[in-house]
Amino acid sequence: MYVNNKKKACEEVGIRSFEYALPEETTETELIELIGRLNGDPEVDGILCQLPLPKHINEEKILNSIDPSKDADCFHPFNVGRLMIGNPVFQPCTPYGVMELIKESGIEISGKECVVVGRSNIVGKPQAMLLLAQNGTVTICHSKTKNLKEVCKRADILVVAIGKAKFVDASYVKEGAVVIDVGMDRDENGKLCGDVDFESVKEIAGAITPVPGGVGPMTIAMLMRNTVMAAKVAKE
Ligand code: GUN
Repeated sequence: MYVNNKKKACEEVGIRSFEYALPEETTETELIELIGRLNGDPEVDGILCQLPLPKHINEEKILNSIDPSKDADCFHPFNVGRLMIGNPVFQPCTPYGVMELIKESGIEISGKECVVVGRSNIVGKPQAMLLLAQNGTVTICHSKTKNLKEVCKRADILVVAIGKAKFVDASYVKEGAVVIDVGMDRDENGKLCGDVDFESVKEIAGAITPVPGGVGPMTIAMLMRNTVMAAKVAKE
């Protein structure tokens, strides 16, 4: 679903995309060789390796092999480091999309209590960095956090990225809080839903994103933006 949506978005905006759907038995060396060819191809401006990878392939090695100037996902350590020091070239697509949603909704971040639930390299950690860069007071929660509910209830801006269907209900949310749901889960009937119980939380939140139709399309839009930026820089 993710890959198809990305391909569709490329068509819509006029980016040529190439999918390499490799068999599961592909070796790490073969994958690194393919990335090496794409790194060296002047026709290619952006590269992403859809995660997760099979167990026999070292994710870190693969992400390290992508040319940082073509790193449309912003997963290469060079780009992650730039993000950490507050001087990013690319921004990671999902957290970047969340920041755009907040900005376009006219919501101020400076001085606000921002709680990020989840500490993944794809969402939680970079999300915290981006909120911090906008002067939010940021707390990162994870599976070992004590009193999760109380911490979430302090949030003016609550970003949830834990991968557990409808985990956050209204009892986790302060009246008027901004609630951003990064989850892509299935409910008991197999229907797509988020980490937030939308029906209960919408009654108390000041603003809330739905699933589907909230953060997901923003992730893809930011992937397009990163790719266009990489192309512009390459042509400079
Ligand atoms: N798997 C889940 N989310 C992502 C993403 O944003 N990029 C890539 N490459 N893989 C993912």
